[in-house]
Amino acid sequence: MCELHDHPQPGRTRLILPMPLGQTHDAMLNGEKHVLDSLAPDTVMMMGDNPALPKVPEKPTLLDFFRTRINGITRRHLLTSAHRAMEQGMDEKVVLAILLHDIAVACLIRADHGYWGAQMIAPYVDEEVAFAVQYHQCLRYYADEANGYPYPESYNRFFGPDYAPPDYIRADAEHARNHRFYLSARQVTVFDSYFFDDTPAPDSEIFADIIGRHFRQPSQGLGFDNSPVAHMWRTVIWPHNAL
Ligand SMILES: [Fe+2]
Ligand SMILES: [Fe+2]
Repeated sequence: MCELHDHPQPGRTRLILPMPLGQTHDAMLNGEKHVLDSLAPDTVMMMGDNPALPKVPEKPTLLDFFRTRINGITRRHLLTSAHRAMEQGMDEKVVLAILLHDIAVACLIRADHGYWGAQMIAPYVDEEVAFAVQYHQCLRYYADEANGYPYPESYNRFFGPDYAPPDYIRADAEHARNHRFYLSARQVTVFDSYFFDDTPAPDSEIFADIIGRHFRQPSQGLGFDNSPVAHMWRTVIWPHNAL
């Protein structure tokens, strides 16, 4: 619950319903019941800006999402990995793919993040960039020593050394290996390592030129261009909307 002052419907307490994803039947039911029981003349269900989150500008750009919605360890991971790729003179499209490869983890959803991330950006980037983002997820499970990618030690720690990816991951990795954009997706995995050191993340602004050249920013703002994925960006802007 939170009080609103400089937002619509001021003075009322906004109630946030539980997210359905990953809830058990009972937890969902209890959460929904709690909100319904709390409805009163001085409450409303959360719709629109949640004042607990940074405000997203009216016509948001990709960098606005980096400023307001791309968070946590993954924010640093994206900026650091892309910065390293840029410093090593990688192709700009590959740098952009690295900058965006885990965008879903950072602001939308973790499960199948490569697929969600690729879908979010597909209308705005070259096919090669969306491909690299989608397929980095499955290729991460398969070493390619010749191209500088050993199986990640971190995955042994995260998932256990006996983890076996599901069939769709194996099949998609196989598809990617035979694709003309394979090396771009593989490059994403090469730079896709976690740097748990104290170096601060670079400022997202250092990517402004690459984004300007390779990300087709809609003039109405991400979320408001009526594209097939606009709703995904709006969900990131207003994640707590009741409906
Ligand atoms: Fe990833
Ligand atoms: Fe990553």
